[in-house]
Amino acid sequence: MVKIHGGNPPEGVLDFSSPLNPLGPPRLLLNVLFNEIEGGAVSRYPDPSYSDFKNSVSMFYNIDPENILPLNGAAEGLYMLLAVLKPRRLIVYEPTFGDHWEASRSLGIDIVALPLISEGNRYVLEPDLLCNIPEREKENSLVLLSNPNNPTGVLVRSRKIKSLYSCLGNGSYIVIDEAFMDFTTGSESFMGKGFERTIVIRSFTKILSIPGLRIGFLYSEDRDLLSRLEGFRQPWNINILAERAVSFMLRSIDIFKDFIRESRDFVKNEREWLYKKLKSLGLTVYRSWGPFLLVRHSGYTHPELQSALIDNGIYVRDASSFHGLSGEYSRVSVKLRKDNAILVEVFRKLFGG
Ligand SMILES: Cc1ncc(COP(=O)(O)O)c(C=O)c1O
Repeated sequence: MVKIHGGNPPEGVLDFSSPLNPLGPPRLLLNVLFNEIEGGAVSRYPDPSYSDFKNSVSMFYNIDPENILPLNGAAEGLYMLLAVLKPRRLIVYEPTFGDHWEASRSLGIDIVALPLISEGNRYVLEPDLLCNIPEREKENSLVLLSNPNNPTGVLVRSRKIKSLYSCLGNGSYIVIDEAFMDFTTGSESFMGKGFERTIVIRSFTKILSIPGLRIGFLYSEDRDLLSRLEGFRQPWNINILAERAVSFMLRSIDIFKDFIRESRDFVKNEREWLYKKLKSLGLTVYRSWGPFLLVRHSGYTHPELQSALIDNGIYVRDASSFHGLSGEYSRVSVKLRKDNAILVEVFRKLFGG
């Protein structure tokens, strides 16, 4: 079985398939990594309690360290939740990121897919779709969404998530994957909001542009759940370099906050530019809060489109691998202006305009 993700372009081709901070990892983080390697960190085991990391996360996001579970990237969170909670059903607003179909199949968990509704140039999450499921069909389930959503880019406001919450089945939880939340002002985050049956998953992969390091965390106010997850967590699930470097960034509060602000402004500006250019080619472009845009190009579809793009030196995410989308959709990452301009020129060549 092949796991399909972005970030595997052919050699020498400009990669628009993996949505990361276009500014790249901050210099400070790289310096800490170099220093840790030189200091011999890789010859030691990480601290299995990750108390320094938890305290650093707690200080930065102003949340209780007791509510934090260290993760080997956000992706690990869903696997742990499925394995420990063994929900009867996984109810998923699609399209969304993740290997939840394969993981659920392996564990014998049923999936119920609820569609995000496409309305003009945005996708909308309808809480009623969950509310209308009969109670006996949604008890002991996990409801999963990513916010901002990958790949549609939509940011679901917290009042909507509260409506979802009121429709949860008995013994169920909402899992909110906030891997891209640092690209927004953060006001819609569910961390620290006092909702016991919400579970938030966060990642440092996207904002710090470090997919190779693998570090994130899970936030929950349900201590019983956390202790079950902690019992299942393997003792050294985050490597020592990732832990040390990200903890250092988190403790450098002002520097990290400035970096996040600068990244958010940069991405917003470039995303707007790209949005307008692609729209002017007659394509449907969806409003996004992440470092990427979902584009619909009826007429010219994947996999033929991807081959033509590669011939022209660029590579995008063929979004047909997301449940609910077809080869008419691509997800393109927001990069630096010189790269974004290349993408626009290639799209202009292929789509006219
Ligand atoms: C919504 C979402 N969650 C989680 C992940 C995976 O994050 P990590 O690399 O931290 O496991 C991704 C990666 O694309 C993502 O888009």
